[in-house]
Amino acid sequence: MSETPPLKRLYIKTYGCQMNVYDSERMADVLAPLGYGMTDAPEEADLVVLNTCHIREKATEKVYSELGYIKQMKQARAEAGATMTIAVAGCVAQAEGQEIMRRQPAVDLVVGPQAYHQLPELIARTHRARGERLAADFAADEKFDALPTARRPTGVTAFLTVQEGCDKFCTFCVVPYTRGGEWSRPADSILAEARGLAEQGVREITLLGQNVNAYDGAEGGLAGLVRALALIEGLDRIRYTTSHPRDMDEALIAAHAQVEALMPYLHLPVQSGSDKILKAMNRQHTAESYLRQIEKVRAARPDIAISGDFIVGFPGERESDFEATLSLIRQVGYASAFTFKYSRRPGTPASAMPGQIDEAVKDERLARLNALLEDQQKAFNAQQVGKVLPVLVERLGRHDGQLSGRSPYLQAVHMDGPAHLVGQIVPVRIEASARMSLSGQIQLETA
Ligand code: SAH
Ligand code: SF4
Ligand code: F3S
Repeated sequence: MSETPPLKRLYIKTYGCQMNVYDSERMADVLAPLGYGMTDAPEEADLVVLNTCHIREKATEKVYSELGYIKQMKQARAEAGATMTIAVAGCVAQAEGQEIMRRQPAVDLVVGPQAYHQLPELIARTHRARGERLAADFAADEKFDALPTARRPTGVTAFLTVQEGCDKFCTFCVVPYTRGGEWSRPADSILAEARGLAEQGVREITLLGQNVNAYDGAEGGLAGLVRALALIEGLDRIRYTTSHPRDMDEALIAAHAQVEALMPYLHLPVQSGSDKILKAMNRQHTAESYLRQIEKVRAARPDIAISGDFIVGFPGERESDFEATLSLIRQVGYASAFTFKYSRRPGTPASAMPGQIDEAVKDERLARLNALLEDQQKAFNAQQVGKVLPVLVERLGRHDGQLSGRSPYLQAVHMDGPAHLVGQIVPVRIEASARMSLSGQIQLETA
């Protein structure tokens, strides 16, 4: 196959969750037949796509300030006789729609997460309106339908979206509004995409969904899908994220005990340890029911790494509620975590609740929360010292002769070794640990 140089340059900036990372790759795939090749330099781009996140106020504001910079680049290009098309995709696009173009007139088009397959057409229309001709013919719709298997992965790990949307309506969250209701992709198309990835050298796949464990597109749900994926030749590691406690069923827990390729890592957000707050959040689980689930998961897979999301300063959160969160964390023992200050999102029920918490109180609670979780993360990592872990080598390290990979528990692992080991799973004796990574020596085979 001959590679023709790209006729046009595409710059994509991705914000938010891993679903957006996946979507950005897919947008690049959809645009490749139009002659777009990727660039890291927005000022050189013919097309700039901002794939945005609406989850917290800060995330949204970042998009508008970035658009300010991009607009200047667009003007500079216009002065040099070139054009730039600016597209806003993702969850801000979905939530704010045409309002974005009013706030930043330099934006040419706005496209929500459910409409990426229309991107070539939308861009062609924008160009036509400007009197430009498309540089390349773009393929018919059927070709885009077939795109999943035509993916070109960039490494030995890949994301794969299997589920989108959310019906849970946690009272703080915009996702049910930006991504729509829960929808599961048919297993056949997932398996075809996974086989394509494995054939191109991908060893590890992370299944993505806003509520990935609510997946019901295969017999046996997510557990059934995991078992089918585990049979694919070359696919050695399977992960999934993000799960909701309500959908953590026995079958999935059993898969953690039985399916070797399913990695011992579970991201199961709890948000709060106070039942009063959990109720106000509409999480539909209690601290106790969450703890019982963790117990079951650990019974199935004792070494599993548990990760979570936490929100401090939800409306009505008292010191005692916050302490209940700290207490739950002490009972679980987390390997990693994501922590957030509650951010008031327009249109969500919690934004109108009484008892909004002062920023200073949120800051103080966040600092205490982070201190505890950082200690737990360090302790979890320190436990690995002295063990030999199978590490998937993902890339060359920062220094010459260094490699970098991941343990089964998703810890970054640094080691010395030759470049040809990239893509292989090697035994590494862990010698040192820090909060964010491990380091060690590859164990040489002794016959
Ligand atoms: N579907 C996933 C989470 C998606 S959003 C789940 O339910 O677990 C990722 C995280 O962002 C959430 O788990 C939550 O902790 C945080 N988050 C969502 N909305 C927020 C808000 N309004 N303020 C602060 N944090 C929020
Ligand atoms: Fe948001 Fe809750 Fe749905 Fe997660 S489960 S995406 S936090 S509404
Ligand atoms: Fe953000 Fe949308 Fe993901 S709001 S977290 S990009 S689903």
